[in-house]
This record gives sequence, structure tokens and C-alpha cells, in this order.
Amino acid sequence: MPHTPNTPHTPNIPHTPRTPRTQDEAPSPLIVVIAGRKGGAGKTTTALNLAGALAERGRRVLLVDLDPQASLTRLLLGADAAELEGIGTRILAPQRGIAGLATAVLPGVHLMPGDRAIETAAMTLDGALAPAQAARRRPRQRRYPP
Ligand SMILES: Nc1ncnc2c1ncn2[C@@H]1O[C@H](COP(=O)(O)OP(=O)(O)OP(=O)(O)O)[C@@H](O)[C@H]1O
Ligand SMILES: [Mg+2]
Repeated sequence: MPHTPNTPHTPNIPHTPRTPRTQDEAPSPLIVVIAGRKGGAGKTTTALNLAGALAERGRRVLLVDLDPQASLTRLLLGADAAELEGIGTRILAPQRGIAGLATAVLPGVHLMPGDRAIETAAMTLDGALAPAQAARRRPRQRRYPP
């Protein structure tokens, strides 16, 4: 297949019905964060293909798009999807919760869509967390003699 620049590769996931697991057989949850400041490094592509590969192996996957550019959301739900309400809007209005936000995008894969509000949400969270982080960085007072 010819390679299209700046378009993440979409996995071709055959739909294989999964046998339901009992509580005891369920694998423990795994959280994977794919993040980095460098653009075009393959973050979106890795997230999508890893989700596809895990779903193929019978895992239930929730993709959470925390990129303000929302490329993954636009790729999976269409170009206008990032204009709709996403996780950033809900972070800014936590009383509304996140119910109903995730949507099925591929067999075994749901997506919590991103939106532009993530940028504001990140700054708000930075501001809220800054005093705690500064306190943690402050060196402990030492008394001499101990
Ligand atoms: N393993 C790979 N082999 C070849 N091309 C790849 C690979 N991974 C990603 N690419 C290509 O590199 C380009 C950038 O990938 P991608 O959009 O996933 O990066 P990104 O880190 O999410 O970028 P951004 O910072 O803009 O969000 C795309 O054209 C994608 O198809
Ligand atoms: Mg990306």
C-alpha cells in the first residue's frame, strides 16, 4: 500500500467474536501512556496500532485522546469530530462526569474523543497542581546538630 505522509496507519482488524471471560480469568488492566513533545514521532500511529493489536488478542481497549490536535479522534470519527464535546470539555466541567463520552470505533476498541478544550484543561490542571509540586521540590529543612 502506498505510504501517505502524515496519515497514521489504520489497522485492519478482522472481527473475531471473543469468548466472554469470567471474573477470575480477566486479565489485569493495563494503562499505556504514549506521550512526547516531538511532533511526527509516531505517537498517534502507535496508539492506534497497539489498540488494534490488543483488541485482536481479546483485550477490551479504551483509547483516550489527550492531544489538543485530536488527530486520533478526527481519524476515527471524522474531520469535524474534534469540534464536538470531548474529554477536555469534561475536565473543565468535572461535575458532568465522563458518562456517555466513549464511543465504539473498532471491534473491541472504544475512543474517548479529544477536543480543543484539552489545551485549556491542561493549563488549568497545571495551575491547580503547581503549589503541590513546588512544595514537593522544596528541600527538606535540616537541623544541625540533628
Ligand atoms: N512505524 C512507522 N513506520 C513508518 N511510518 C510511520 C510509522 N509510525 C508513524 N509513521 C508515519 O509518521 C507520520 C507521523 O506519525 P504520527 O502522526 O503517528 O506521529 P505523532 O507523533 O502522533 O505526530 P504529532 O506530534 O503531529 O501528533 C505519519 O505519516 C505516520 O504514518
Ligand atoms: Mg499525533
